[in-house]
Amino acid sequence: MPLWAYGFVTPGAPGEKATMPGAPAHALRPKEDAQEQLKLRQVEGSAEHFSLLQIRNGSEVVDWFPGDHPPLTPLMKHGPASGGGNTYGCAFCHMPNGKGRPENAPVSGLPVAYFIRQMQDMRAGLRSSAEPRKANTLLMIALAQAMTDAEIREAAEYFAAMPWTPWIRVVETDRVPRTRIQTNMFIPIESERTELIGARIIEVPENADEVELNRNPHVGFIAYVPIGSVKKGEALVTTGGATIINGQTVPGKTVACATCHGLDLKGLVEVPGIAGRSPSYLARQLYDIQQGTRKSPLAQLMKPVVANLTNDDLVAIVAFVSSLRSGK
Ligand code: HEC
Ligand code: HEC
Repeated sequence: MPLWAYGFVTPGAPGEKATMPGAPAHALRPKEDAQEQLKLRQVEGSAEHFSLLQIRNGSEVVDWFPGDHPPLTPLMKHGPASGGGNTYGCAFCHMPNGKGRPENAPVSGLPVAYFIRQMQDMRAGLRSSAEPRKANTLLMIALAQAMTDAEIREAAEYFAAMPWTPWIRVVETDRVPRTRIQTNMFIPIESERTELIGARIIEVPENADEVELNRNPHVGFIAYVPIGSVKKGEALVTTGGATIINGQTVPGKTVACATCHGLDLKGLVEVPGIAGRSPSYLARQLYDIQQGTRKSPLAQLMKPVVANLTNDDLVAIVAFVSSLRSGK
C-alpha cells in the first residue's frame, strides 16, 4: 500500500480505524499560549487580519483573498445548512480557491457533472478510502450525506468556475527532509534533506507556517519524487508502457491516459482533469480504485488502467502527471 499517499509512515494494526472527527473548534487550545492564538496575523498580499483562533474555526472559514474567487456562500463558509452552522465549510479544507491540500482534494476546475457524481457516490457508499485510518475522508462522506441536491450543485458550480492553475513544484531527489505528520500532511522538521526518499513521494508545503498556521491559499507545495520517476511515468502515461518488439506492439501494464482525460490531461467532458494536481491525492485515487473502495460505475472505466500497477508505477505515473504545468 502506498502509505505515503495517505499520510502515514507505518501500517495500521489489524482492525484499526479512524473515528469521526468532532465539530469544529471554537475555543482556545489550552496547551498553547493564549496571546499567541489571539494575536492578529497577516499574510503577504492580503489586507485582512485574522487570529489563529479564527483561522482554525472550520465553521467560520476566513477569507484572506476575497478577490480570488466568487463570493463565499454560507455553504462554503459554514457547511451544509442541515449542520446548523456547527459543521465544516467546504472552503476550510479545500480552501476558498479550491486548491485543496495533499490530504484532501484539489477541487477547482472539475467538471460540474463529475463533481456532482462524486458527492452522490460518497452518499451511496460507492467511494471511501482504502485506508480506514483516514479520518478526514469519513468527515467528507458525512458532509456529502448532509447536503441537499441543491447544495451539491451550488458547490460544483462554485469550484468549477475557477480553472486549475499549477501550484505543485515537482523536485527529483534521492533525499528528503525529515518530516512529521500533521493530520495526514507531511511537514518538514529540517531544511537539509537527510532522509532517503525510497519508493515514495513526499509532498510538503513550500512554507510550513504559511500553510499550517495561516492556511494561506497562495502557498503551494513541493513534491519530492525519486530520481528518474518523471521520465518513467511519462512513458506509462503516454503509451501505457507499450513496447514494439519485432514490429509488433506489445501492450504495457496500463492504458494511455489521454484517451479519456484529454490530450493534455486537463479533462475531457465529464472526465476530470488530473494535470498538475497533488500527486498524493492522485495516487490515493488510483489505489482506492484498484482496491475497490472507489467503485462507482464510471470508476470501472479505470479498472484496466490500475489493475497491474505497483507502488513504483504509481510513484512514476503521478510524479509525471503532477509535473505537468498546464493545469486546468
Ligand atoms: C474536513 C475536510 C473537508 C471538508 C470540510 C470538505 N472536504 Fe471534500 N474532501 C475531503 C477529503 C479528505 C477528500 C478526499 C478523499 C480521499 O482522498 O480519500 C475530499 C474530496 C472531495 C471531492 C472529490 C474531488 C475529486 O476530484 O473527485 C469533492 C468533490 C469534495 N471533496 C467536495 C466537498 C464539498 C462540496 C464540501 C463542502 C460541503 C467539502 N468537500 C468539504 C475533505 C473535506
Ligand atoms: C477508459 C477511460 C480512461 C482511461 C484510459 C484513464 N482514465 Fe482515469 N478516469 C476515467 C474516468 C471516467 C474517471 C472518473 C471516474 C469517476 O467518475 O469516479 C477517471 C478518474 C481518474 C482519477 C481520479 C480523479 C479525481 O479527481 O479523483 C485519476 C487520478 C485518474 N483517472 C488517473 C488516470 C491515469 C493516470 C490514467 C492513465 C495511466 C487514466 N486515468 C486513464 C477514465 C479513464
